[in-house]
Amino acid sequence: MNSSITKLFNIKYPIVQGGMIWVSGAKLAAAVSNAGGLGIVGAGSMNPDVLKEHILKTKSLTDKAFGVNVPLLYSGAEEQINCAIDLGVKIFFTSAGSPKKFTDYLKKKGAVVVHVTSSPELAVKCLEAGVDAIVAEGYEAGGHNGREEITTMTLIPQVRERISIPIIAAGGIATGSAIAAAFALGADGVQMGTRFLMTKESSAHENFKNLALQALPHSTQIMMRSTVPVRLFNNQFSSDIKKIEETYTGEELKKKLIEHLGKFRAMNGMHKGELEQGELEIGQIISLIKNIPTVAEVMKELISDYQKTLSRLPVKL
Ligand SMILES: Cc1cc2nc3c(=O)[nH]c(=O)nc-3n(C[C@H](O)[C@H](O)[C@H](O)COP(=O)(O)O)c2cc1C
Repeated sequence: MNSSITKLFNIKYPIVQGGMIWVSGAKLAAAVSNAGGLGIVGAGSMNPDVLKEHILKTKSLTDKAFGVNVPLLYSGAEEQINCAIDLGVKIFFTSAGSPKKFTDYLKKKGAVVVHVTSSPELAVKCLEAGVDAIVAEGYEAGGHNGREEITTMTLIPQVRERISIPIIAAGGIATGSAIAAAFALGADGVQMGTRFLMTKESSAHENFKNLALQALPHSTQIMMRSTVPVRLFNNQFSSDIKKIEETYTGEELKKKLIEHLGKFRAMNGMHKGELEQGELEIGQIISLIKNIPTVAEVMKELISDYQKTLSRLPVKL
């Protein structure tokens, strides 16, 4: 499974574990890197001290390449980036903000920079900003989502048409056959969030993982379109958001949503297992996932399913 992505990161398989707030610490990142993919420490929910601890722990658990994801919408992004640089991190996945903000700075520090995009237009901006690769993330994805609501199936070929740097497809990918589909559409690698959330090594709370095992195809939806769109598991918290969105408009709506969101909903939901009042970010593909294996088992299954898929292709048309 060699591709421009395996070369770029010096990894065995072009499979990246997406950075995920409250879910992707050292244990998950190191397990993915040790299994031949690229593990990512999700800095978005970490202050610099916690981030430092996770980077050092990842280094102690693996001698393979790993990266750090920094969502640029949070105020601590610059501090997180500098903390990771000081500790020798060489791979950065930035997201939720302009690719122009830190790409140049990171490149000057000798880092490989990947930016997450949700549209072909933004992919071109990433190219202009000088990134090494992009993640093209479709509407199916868990967590914060693009306003354009473009599905992975339509996004990847349109990004491929416009840029020639490596593309990592994300959103709705959890099987080897989906990896093969992403490659067929023009991707060079894949990034998975939801599949890795559902592993023994992720720091999602057991209550959340067990609830997610019961998911149906319509158990998630995009909420908070007027502020920061995010794909959530349906629960009391998301029903309350829906009521607010049906009742208010404009500035009043934004104010009410911010009030409702409060401070620790994401931590309480995903990390502490508060299933009704917490925020539960997860992708649409969750309804296909019916187990909570180790990362090594997931990787083995992905590769075997990928090979089986290739052996039954091409289908004669
Ligand atoms: C719980 C959760 C938290 C996430 N947090 C982040 C984040 O902090 N930064 C980011 O760039 N993407 C984040 N994502 C998106 C993932 O990195 C990944 O791109 C996405 O999950 C891929 O789609 P999938 O869930 O269908 O696999 C998050 C996704 C989930 C499920």
